[in-house]
Amino acid sequence: MNADSIIIRFENITKRFGGTIALDGVSFSVRQGEIHAVLGENGAGKSTLMRILSGVLPKDDGRLLVAGEEKHFRTPIDAQQVGISTVYQEPYLAPHMTVAENVFLGREPSHGLGIVDFASLNSQTREILSRLELSINPTTRLLELSPAEVQLVQIARALASSSNILILDEPTASITEHESDILFGLLKKLNAGGLTIIYVSHRLKEIFDLCHRATVLRDGKFINTVDVASSDEDKMIGMMVGREIVHHERGREKARGGGIRLEVRGLCVSDAPVRVNNVSFHVQKGEIVALAGLVGSGRSEVAKAVFGLNRIDAGSIEVDGKPARIRHSRDAIRLGIAFVPEDRKDEGLISIQSLKHNISLTGLRLLSRFGFLQGSAETDLARSSSAQLSIKASSEEAEVATLSGGNQQKVVLAKWLWLKPSILILDEPTRGIDVGAKAEIHTLIRNLAAEGMSVLLVSSELPEVLALADRIYVMRDGTIAGELQWSQASQEAIMKLAALGN
Ligand SMILES: Nc1ncnc2c1ncn2[C@@H]1O[C@H](COP(=O)(O)OP(=O)(O)OP(=O)(O)O)[C@@H](O)[C@H]1O
Ligand SMILES: [Mg+2]
Repeated sequence: MNADSIIIRFENITKRFGGTIALDGVSFSVRQGEIHAVLGENGAGKSTLMRILSGVLPKDDGRLLVAGEEKHFRTPIDAQQVGISTVYQEPYLAPHMTVAENVFLGREPSHGLGIVDFASLNSQTREILSRLELSINPTTRLLELSPAEVQLVQIARALASSSNILILDEPTASITEHESDILFGLLKKLNAGGLTIIYVSHRLKEIFDLCHRATVLRDGKFINTVDVASSDEDKMIGMMVGREIVHHERGREKARGGGIRLEVRGLCVSDAPVRVNNVSFHVQKGEIVALAGLVGSGRSEVAKAVFGLNRIDAGSIEVDGKPARIRHSRDAIRLGIAFVPEDRKDEGLISIQSLKHNISLTGLRLLSRFGFLQGSAETDLARSSSAQLSIKASSEEAEVATLSGGNQQKVVLAKWLWLKPSILILDEPTRGIDVGAKAEIHTLIRNLAAEGMSVLLVSSELPEVLALADRIYVMRDGTIAGELQWSQASQEAIMKLAALGN
């Protein structure tokens, strides 16, 4: 096989959505057998290009060539027939069906007469999952899995159909580093066997670990294709954002000192996917405290319990020194607690409504005692939030469904941040968000803390934990394995506690 032979060629691909030009004459090639990264800020056009390649969206203009032949895909099945499979950014799976049913959705092995052969379905799925080194039971229903596991099931699904080109659109946005290591091992193995992979991700480190070449898009335009080995992070960020990103160091000496805002003692939760046992921690005024640990260590369960979403079996919570009874999220909200959950898809973006309405919604519901927001106030709010988080949309009136994945995430963040709660709980706040906006969100979180807000941060990204947290509690198996001051914290110190405990 000629290493330089072209398997996919995009020629002047153009796509418009109303007045938005999502792709503006994009041309580049993907070589047979390479792992090719597609990079760009939120809204750059990455997913749109992948949807065109996988037959989900028609292009307006330009030519798409696969192995030298021009293709006009009308459906994903057309693309699959020439060996192109896709793991989408927004999962299209059936939550009430089992893992195995999802893996083979639409192509179930049958006994004939349309009767599904469940034994074979389950055993084939078990075989695929074991190749992925995943200990997920094929008969578990999808809704019982964590977002990370759902993502891995999607990958299993893509691998179950025979393909020679695999497209992954931000496959690791919701999984931890440990799980990405498993995924990367597998992708490298599949690639060594000849699979061509197109890989969309915001995590630059992954691009350097995994990819041979990278193409950068910005505002729907092709910027460049580079050899990863002869590039570096700064160069790539420069191409992506076309401006410089300011990384602020946290002024850690100031803030705090105002006393303890949130005190949790001996927290136990048994009715949750991960049992939480005897967890104690506190957050001071103006302090950013991180809960670190692997997926499944109980971090999200603790966060949910504090917000009244998990039933607390034992333990106590105090807010500003007063005992707090939190049995429902209403109780938490009344105490000034806000929570941005990990699984933001379920969190109720009303996708057919406008950006501005989605942002103000929390206020209408939660702060109704302040009366209704006026239309102009709503627009102002949407404008300032969009500026703060660099949300990219055609206007405040744009339907949320038309925003790119990363920009939808920002809308969810925006709708909680503007409320300025006294305790803000963030579960994976920058998942799927591009480097430029991530730096801006970090600055915003720091500023909120400097103004006295107490932040409880759950994050799987250790650089994020290290950049933001004043103190870190590391969880393991539903309990606190150790506590680190920011001055003692390092990726190694956190991982040691997360994996080995004290
Ligand atoms: N169905 C749609 N209707 C209207 N506009 C759309 C639609 N889909 C995408 N867009 C617009 O096209 C542009 C490119 O979006 P796309 O989803 O391709 O970005 P992306 O690079 O994948 O971003 P992200 O990193 O946030 O996922 C954005 O401005 C987006 O708002
Ligand atoms: Mg996208």
